[in-house]
Formats: sequence, C-alpha cells, structure tokens
Amino acid sequence: MTETSKGVQAIRWQGGVLQLLDQRLLPVDERWIDCRTAVETAAAIHDMVVRGAPAIGIAAAFGLVLAARRDPAAFDAAEAVLAASRPTAVNLHWALKRMRGVWTGDLARLEAEAVAIFDEDLAQNLTMARFGAELIAPGSRVLTHCNTGALATGGHGTALGVIRTAWAQGRIAEVYNTETRPWLQGARLTAWELMREGIPGQLIADGAAAHLMSTIRIDWVIVGADRIAANGDTANKIGTHMLAVVARHYGAKFMVVAPSGTFDLSLASGDLIPIEERTAKELTEFKGAQIAPAGMRAFNPVFDVTPASLIDAIVCERGVATPPTTAALKALLG
Ligand code: MRU
Repeated sequence: MTETSKGVQAIRWQGGVLQLLDQRLLPVDERWIDCRTAVETAAAIHDMVVRGAPAIGIAAAFGLVLAARRDPAAFDAAEAVLAASRPTAVNLHWALKRMRGVWTGDLARLEAEAVAIFDEDLAQNLTMARFGAELIAPGSRVLTHCNTGALATGGHGTALGVIRTAWAQGRIAEVYNTETRPWLQGARLTAWELMREGIPGQLIADGAAAHLMSTIRIDWVIVGADRIAANGDTANKIGTHMLAVVARHYGAKFMVVAPSGTFDLSLASGDLIPIEERTAKELTEFKGAQIAPAGMRAFNPVFDVTPASLIDAIVCERGVATPPTTAALKALLG
C-alpha cells in the first residue's frame, strides 16, 4: 500500500483541454467531459461534474486559461462567470485571485500558474495527511462525511487523505462514512474511493450517526471544509454541524482538514459565510422520479457552519491548530 491514492483522479489538463471525470455518474459510469471554454467550465462546476472545494478551485484556474487562450480580452468576463458558479467554497475565489495576480497577458505564465495550483494541492494534501494521521491512535475507528478524497481535490484528499495515510500507517481499524444526502457524495464517491483501495469501510445513513457514536466508540470524526472563518468556524457539507454536536456529546474528537486556500480570514466568524441553496428537486425527487407530494416546498441548504468550539483540531499544510482559536489560526496562517 502506497501512501497516495491508487490512481484516482478527477481532473486532467491535456492538450489545452480541461477534462473532468463526471461525478454525477459515479460509481456506475466513469465518463469524462471536455471543457474548452470558461463558460463550459463554470457550468461543470455549477452542475457538479466537478465538486469539492479544492477541485473547484483547480477547475476554475484552468477555466481562466481556456478563456484567455481564446481571447485575452475575455479574462475579466470569464473571471466573473467562474466566480458566480458556486458560492460557498472560497477556494474558487482564492484560485481566481491567484490567477489574476500573475495575469499580464502572458498565456504561458497563466497556464503555469494553473498547473502549479493543481500540483501544489496534491503536495499540500500529502503534508496534511501526515499531520492529521499523527493525531490518530492505532486501532481507531473514524467517521467521515461527504467526499473529501482524490475526487474532491488535486489528489489524495483532505479528510479522506488523512484517513488514507492513517490506514496505510496501521492506525485505523474501521472507517464509517455517511451517505451524505441529498447528493450522496458519501454513498457514491467516498465508498467508491474506499473500495478501490481496500480500506475497510461501512456506509451509514446520515441519521444513524448518533446511534453509531452512542453504541460503539468512534475516536475521530474527520471532515473537510469549504470555507473557514478567522475564528475557526467551518462551513462544510450539510450535516457536518450535526455530526460535531453528536461527537461532542459522545466524546468523539472532531478534526477538520483543509489547505490554506480554504481559509477566509476576511470573515471574522462563520455567520458571514454564504451558504449555497440548491434546487428543491434534490429533496423532492430521486433520479428524476418524484418522491415527495407534488407541490411540496423544500429548503435545501447544501452546507452548514460548525462552530469552532465544537472542533478539536484544524489541520492545514502549515500545521495543526488544536484547539482552533482565532489566535492559533492567525499564528498558523500569518
Ligand atoms: O457540494 P460539494 O460536493 O462540492 O461539497 C463538498 C464538501 O462539502 C467537502 O467536504 C469539501 O469541499 C471539502 S473537499 C476536500
């Protein structure tokens, strides 16, 4: 077992085309989609062909390269279209800002920056995985939520990267992963990644988490993040907050794993983080078939904010903040 994920990749930059593994179809079909314009890239982000905060940032960076290649004067418009594709993951804006910072009209320089964002993400994940794994005692049982693996990043993963590395180091006895309704990132994507690597895992319904934590010992709940405010409040997939409350109640530790591009130090606290709401159909329909009474309204926020007070450790590539206070995060991130 090597430390890195076994060839799982969701993003390719080949021959000037952005290729994305269509995550709407996994685990049944492995089909790739080509993006040749910024508008196509923004649509792929919005429609969740590509998803996961770091992966969204990487895709957006290549979207700008696609736009500038076609027409250098279209840079600003492309940036606006990409920035509007999804609201919560700050990695998107972080990547766009980084790309703007190097844009002088030099296409080769722009492409090199996008490639660097992609490559650095994998390197950061491997570093975070080692930091996070050190916190996990041998024989631990862990619970994770959503998909934070190679599919959601430039490779290896954030929270799932810690789990991969901790498992390779013999620290993990069992992984539980939530199905993550309504989009089923856990059932469809995390389960797929775990099974590809033979990591012992069991899927649970989201609503089974309190039962699980009250009946067997879960040592760590390990999740990723879409945006972390200056005080450590963390936006992540809907249901994360609920898991943190239950974890605190039953004595499981709670770890958030995210690269520095996920921190938004301009926001003092998590109540300022924009929370994406998606179509009610994600709740009232399943695979296009109606499951709720016709006309039923539905509230579908797809992220929530976990207060820093419920988080035991935030791991980023620069180190670990435990507990993640404003001062500890400032010292970590500068
Ligand atoms: O809606 P998604 O699938 O983009 O949400 C993904 C998550 O919430 C992940 O936990 C987060 O982006 C971290 S991914 C490394």
